[in-house]
Amino acid sequence: MFNIVKGTHDVIQAEAQRYSYIEEVMTNVALNYGYKEFRTPVLENSDLFIRSVGDSSDIVRKEMYTFEDKGGRSITLRPERTAGIIRSMVNAKLFANQDYPVKAFYVGPNFRYERPQQGRYRQFNQFGVECAGASTIERDVETIALGYTMLKVLGFDNLKLKINTLGDKESRENYKAALKEYFSKHIEEMCGDCKERFKLNILRILDCKVPEDRPIIDKAPKIGDYLTEEARNRFEKVKSYLTALEIPFEVDSELVRGLDYYSGIVFEFHYTASNGNNYGAIGAGGHYGNLISEIGGPQIEGVGFAFGIERIAKVMEDDSLFPELANGVDLFIMPMGEKAVEFSFGLAYVLRNLGYSTEVCYEAKSMGAMFKKAERREATLALIIGEDELNNNMITIKNLGTKEQTQINLQDLQSYLDNFFDIELESADDSECCCHHEGHEHGECCRHEGHEHGECCQDDDEHEHHCCHGHGHCHHEE
Ligand code: HAM
Repeated sequence: MFNIVKGTHDVIQAEAQRYSYIEEVMTNVALNYGYKEFRTPVLENSDLFIRSVGDSSDIVRKEMYTFEDKGGRSITLRPERTAGIIRSMVNAKLFANQDYPVKAFYVGPNFRYERPQQGRYRQFNQFGVECAGASTIERDVETIALGYTMLKVLGFDNLKLKINTLGDKESRENYKAALKEYFSKHIEEMCGDCKERFKLNILRILDCKVPEDRPIIDKAPKIGDYLTEEARNRFEKVKSYLTALEIPFEVDSELVRGLDYYSGIVFEFHYTASNGNNYGAIGAGGHYGNLISEIGGPQIEGVGFAFGIERIAKVMEDDSLFPELANGVDLFIMPMGEKAVEFSFGLAYVLRNLGYSTEVCYEAKSMGAMFKKAERREATLALIIGEDELNNNMITIKNLGTKEQTQINLQDLQSYLDNFFDIELESADDSECCCHHEGHEHGECCRHEGHEHGECCQDDDEHEHHCCHGHGHCHHEE
């Protein structure tokens, strides 16, 4: 027995299906906002993160998985994605060859050597976006709206969106000077981390969670009082846009974020499940003014965010926000005898190629045991093939829902199945819509709410949130 590495977790079976569902919903919304997928390496040169996330951040100081490779290079398992995504854009010369903004979405694992606790892992997955070459307020708010929409489509209500501004350079310098003056009077009474932050990056003191430090921090100067007129106007405009889009938010003047590349607007999404569980921010991001040029790109700005898939999956489970995800197979073949096994082996190949998800029971000998397995596999139809059937070119079909049984000629099997599954889908209940089996792409067809079977609904405004699962079944969520 080998134990799993501390702070990591296996995502298997139903849980993996739920992760895929979250990623699929987010991908569809990102595509809808004009983002393209980026896949960058898990391994990056350590300097990338030291430069971008910042050597005064907790991530770089304490949490990176850094090692020397056999060629003597310092390599780090990415602790976050923004730096690597921007690096890939610079390396591919996208800023020279493509219109701004360049929009990327991404999904995959990150690594941070943090203290494992509820909702905090050492390997965790993020789904995120970067909108690079974007300095306007509209892009900032559009990015927040994108994240908000993803969560709404997943079924989240009562989201808490916290926003703050770190202002422009001048605002930040003035504010840091005010914090320095204030904390210099209190720092001796504060925790070791705060003492270090006082020297390295005073803004990060505001993030301290040590209860004894909170009364001091709560009385510290607020960024709002140090904003230049331009930074203040920008923040006001962000707020008025969010109000216009009816996206609820609250201003949290202590929100500073743990990565050093932010400037301007920063935000976090929070959600508390009805059982009181709260795993920390489910997603977070902000505007970055200098990151792109620091990584070797032009002097352009960007904005982005990342969601923590683990945290989102956990609260969705707590609040039963997941739809029923297709789990069963269409067909369960039950061969009786050696010849039937051989025949079923070939038949399954043909049926799967026709688009029917199919399982063959090679592992049980008795009918009773096979039916039990079919039930556990949530099969729709059982195809029974015994000696009689083989001799007469027939096949016995049992509907495992209604228990009706019928015998048909083998040559009629395809038309029987096509017909059966058409009717099956026609009569699907109202909470489901349906998709055809063969040849249809994900989300392509659906017949919910006035849509005819097979009609495309993906680009239809009203139905943009339909998505499909597994073998041709489709789930409908608003
Ligand atoms: P971050 O706040 O470090 O930002 O992470 C974003 C989200 O990832 C968090 O809100 C949380 O849901 C999830 N997360 C972070 N650490 C862990 C962990 N140890 N275990 C489980 N989930 C975790 C960034 O990473 C920025 N790159 C976001 C961004 C993109 N800013 C601009 N563009």
